[in-house]
Amino acid sequence: MSKSWLGLEEKVIVITGGASGIGSELAKTLQNEGATVVVADHTVTTGEILNGSFCVRCDTIRKDSVEQMIQTVVQKFERLDALVNCVGIQSEKVLLDEEQPDRELDEVTFAMMWGVNVKSVYICAQAAVPRW
Ligand SMILES: NC(=O)c1ccc[n+]([C@@H]2O[C@H](COP(=O)([O-])OP(=O)(O)OC[C@H]3O[C@@H](n4cnc5c(N)ncnc54)[C@H](O)[C@@H]3O)[C@@H](O)[C@H]2O)c1
Repeated sequence: MSKSWLGLEEKVIVITGGASGIGSELAKTLQNEGATVVVADHTVTTGEILNGSFCVRCDTIRKDSVEQMIQTVVQKFERLDALVNCVGIQSEKVLLDEEQPDRELDEVTFAMMWGVNVKSVYICAQAAVPRW
């Protein structure tokens, strides 16, 4: 019988944005359940171990970077079972501010937030799912 109620022993799980915040906490939780966790984040170095997780440097808004990350994972662990899209950013900008126009959301910031928070999900899923 599985030791983990989630049955995660021997499962290899990639967590995007796993170097910090929600992703980092989730990485520890999944490890405690027996999973092998890979942190895919643009702040890590490929091959480093962060809180017990193998790291792969990856920019989730770049398709080539994501495909390389998935390839690295499959080469090292010979399997990939799950992807957690945890990567995300936020901005201090507001929609309108007549007194401080610099605080108003601009197109560059919006595009960056859309890219990391939305486009990353599709790019990572499209690269990972064929490896199930
Ligand atoms: N922490 C909260 O309580 C909370 C609550 C509601 C919503 N959120 C949202 O959830 C998301 C994650 O929150 P968090 O607190 O874990 O944030 P965080 O900043 O601690 O972690 C985000 C991680 O994503 C990584 N990252 C950012 N852009 C990347 C990219 N292009 N490629 C690869 N890695 C990238 C960062 O390096 C970081 O490790 C954010 O969008 C945040 O606004 C957080």
